[in-house]
Amino acid sequence: MNNEQKKGFSRRTLIKGAAAAGGLAVASSFVPYRFAIGAQAKVKVGILLPYSGTYAMLGNSITDAMKLRIAAAGDMLGGRPVEYVAIDSQMSVPKAPQNTSKLVDKDSVDFVVGPVHSGIAAAMAKIIGKRDQPIMIVPNAGSNAVTGPLCSENIFRTSFSNWQPAYPGGTLMAKEGHKTCITIAWKYGAGRQMMDAGAEAFTKAGGKVIKDIEVPFPDVEFQAFLSEIASLKPDAVFAFFSGGGAIKFLKDYAAAGLKSIPLYGPGFLTEGVAKAAGAAAEGVRTTLHYSADLDNPSNHAFRAAYEKATGKGANVFAVQGYDAGSLIVQAMAKVKGDTGATADLIKAMENANFIDSPRGPWKMSAAHNPIQNIYLREVRNGAQKYLGIAAKALEDPAAGCKMA
Ligand code: PHB
Repeated sequence: MNNEQKKGFSRRTLIKGAAAAGGLAVASSFVPYRFAIGAQAKVKVGILLPYSGTYAMLGNSITDAMKLRIAAAGDMLGGRPVEYVAIDSQMSVPKAPQNTSKLVDKDSVDFVVGPVHSGIAAAMAKIIGKRDQPIMIVPNAGSNAVTGPLCSENIFRTSFSNWQPAYPGGTLMAKEGHKTCITIAWKYGAGRQMMDAGAEAFTKAGGKVIKDIEVPFPDVEFQAFLSEIASLKPDAVFAFFSGGGAIKFLKDYAAAGLKSIPLYGPGFLTEGVAKAAGAAAEGVRTTLHYSADLDNPSNHAFRAAYEKATGKGANVFAVQGYDAGSLIVQAMAKVKGDTGATADLIKAMENANFIDSPRGPWKMSAAHNPIQNIYLREVRNGAQKYLGIAAKALEDPAAGCKMA
């Protein structure tokens, strides 16, 4: 479908949808979202994120910060009010197709924001990437495939690919003098891809992975695996867990007396959980595209506003949600609220400006994934301490991505 056809399709869908929904007369076929009575049709933002289970904190942080960003724009997108339709993904991959089609077909949303989980992201991308609408914005899930073989003009990511924060972590481990490591992660796409990236960098730098442990997702029974680590005595451990599971892992690791074996990993391991993990998280060094103490004016302003609105400290998930909101606000302003102008919306998103992101400036790659700095951080006194840049303007290789 070319862009003109896409536009026609989108507008027809929208006119039909608006007329059916309100039974209102459409004033002009050129401006189908403007009703005769002068009211503006709402822009529907569908959300598919976890609000229960081990990733609940991630879903809530993303949602709160995205809404905060859009509220700062007056809760208006290109002159039209916004309406949210949210579904709890329950981290269920089997339910992902049905949840996606509820948002896309039944609710006719203009944008889908989600998910957190890589398996759900791939399922959603397979459905949405085949259509011209809606536009999907991934505010967390790092599935390499989503901006690789499954990449599509209407899919954008404001977070990371699983490769991005993990690869520099492997390099770091070797640089800090470690010769052997054990990798441990939840057994699903995100864990696999992050461990592979960390191992690739570690091996390239002369290190050896002596054991690769996969824990069923989202189990938090770590005892048997920790005993194995204790008996194998690696120089270091490289781990991916996140949310509630990360707190449990950090605490069990310390309780098993393993703190003498340094723990590394993509920064999700300590992100948003360092306080709750207490002494167990102290000294853990990770690599991530954010650190709470980044000293830039946008980060200071964002953290103050987020804390005021939610009573909580912001984390990387909130930053990714905030930038998803920013992406929608900027693109909708460019097309003056015309959600049917898909090609222009996509172009606006490709050229969106993230100079003011709390994580520091970044831009969209050709595969629609952030090109961004990866920072080295360490937990000190329950907070992230920025130690420097681990990889500057790192771009995911996007292997297999061919835009239509
Ligand atoms: C993922 O499934 O892609 C995922 C989940 C949680 C994270 C990072 C990645 O913290």
